[in-house]
Amino acid sequence: MKICRTKKDIRDTVRAFQAEGLTVGLVPTMGYLHDGHMTLVRTAKANADRVIASIFVNPTQFGDAADLDAYPRDEARDFALLEAEGVDAVFCPSVEEMYHPQKQTTVLTEDLDKVLMGALRPGHFKGVCTVVSKLFNITGADKAFFGEKDYQQLLVIKTMVRDLDIPVEVTGVPTVREVDGLAMSSRNVRLTPEDRKAALILNKALAYADYEASDGRTAVELEEQIRAFIAREPRAQLESVDVRDAATLETVDGKIAGPVVILLAARFGDVLLIDQRVADPS
Ligand code: PAF
Repeated sequence: MKICRTKKDIRDTVRAFQAEGLTVGLVPTMGYLHDGHMTLVRTAKANADRVIASIFVNPTQFGDAADLDAYPRDEARDFALLEAEGVDAVFCPSVEEMYHPQKQTTVLTEDLDKVLMGALRPGHFKGVCTVVSKLFNITGADKAFFGEKDYQQLLVIKTMVRDLDIPVEVTGVPTVREVDGLAMSSRNVRLTPEDRKAALILNKALAYADYEASDGRTAVELEEQIRAFIAREPRAQLESVDVRDAATLETVDGKIAGPVVILLAARFGDVLLIDQRVADPS
């Protein structure tokens, strides 16, 4: 596996593959890889001739400097995991390599940036869009793979690619869970054993909501039921519960009739976890 620390190196590597007529799939990550990332890599391998990954803890998408500092990092372990999975090249730039010191340009999806997680974490999706558009431009990959767990992120990236005519095919890959149902995340390692157990309430609440969604509820009623369900777990500090149109993230008026996405965000200790599920009562 080739390790590229500069933009030029990864761009030349991708171009060399493409010159041979091969398609290149990109898996963007912030490192500290887990099985969820490996599923993205496996999906990329099944859908592209060559696979590259990026590892970059992107400072511009963190509102809180403490959260950025606390983000776990282990490059050697990440390289070993990617190599074992048959990744062809990894791009791991420094912050200085990635961002020009006088940078002025950002990318923003106007409406999606203001709702849900965008409203809770101002600037987050602007940071994500900007770095992901840079990764697309730098690498020139043909395809890119993102987890459905970050549902709003996936929608934001697909919208950006559509609006800016970026020549890359974006694929969403279903959430991977631990055997007990906790959605995999690099943040899980920061949970205390008690909070790790308490965090199972999120997946349980999603299963409950999926069942209840088909029973003629309105979105507001369902959100209230989910809040009451999660309140049973005193260690969960609920940040948000949203039942929205699965395609647009707009609010749903009246009874739930078509696909909705149920989005949860909760803190366990100082660790913010998110989870989601699409329910389709139609
Ligand atoms: O989902 C992530 O890990 C990050 O938001 C991404 C897409 C790699 C951009 O930094």
